[in-house]
Amino acid sequence: MRDYLRRGRPLRHLTRPFGYPMKFTLNGAATDVDVHPMARLIDVLREDCALTGTKEGCGEGECGACTVLVNGEPVCSCIIPVAQVENADVITIEGIGGDDPLQHLFMNEVGAQCGICTPGMIMAAQVLGPDSTLDDVKIALAGNLCRCTGYSAIYRAVLKWRGADAAESIGRQGSGVSGVTP
Ligand code: FES
Ligand code: FES
Repeated sequence: MRDYLRRGRPLRHLTRPFGYPMKFTLNGAATDVDVHPMARLIDVLREDCALTGTKEGCGEGECGACTVLVNGEPVCSCIIPVAQVENADVITIEGIGGDDPLQHLFMNEVGAQCGICTPGMIMAAQVLGPDSTLDDVKIALAGNLCRCTGYSAIYRAVLKWRGADAAESIGRQGSGVSGVTP
């Protein structure tokens, strides 16, 4: 797709300029939308499905702010067309629920400031199993960037959710976490 854009060929020349009925499962509910198959998943979620919890940071697959789960795998919804999730199972931050323990931990551990990265962090962390280590958390969140909080509070929140013992070894404000930029 990018090759076409670099060569200056508008994407609309490659696809029909109107919507198609697309079906997928969204947060457990069968969902039908009438959209262009090449519409970005993030736009369909936010504008057609009115689920604005998924945030856009970079818009080019670099920051992870737009992470949702597709068939259980974290993906950047800003770089995949909705056609790619036809008949798939899509979970957004709204599907995690408003009383989710990890969301509370992000608040309690001050793991969120502006909050743009937070839904993506929480969705990316869903792949972690119990007793995860700090390294497991770093790997799971490696594709998610935070511009304001720093990572120690985020890791602490996730470890208190998925690896309680490890959380105690992490100091506040970045102290005690090697290789972490606060
Ligand atoms: S907004 Fe999708 S990766 Fe940054
Ligand atoms: S809290 Fe602002 S980008 Fe992470």
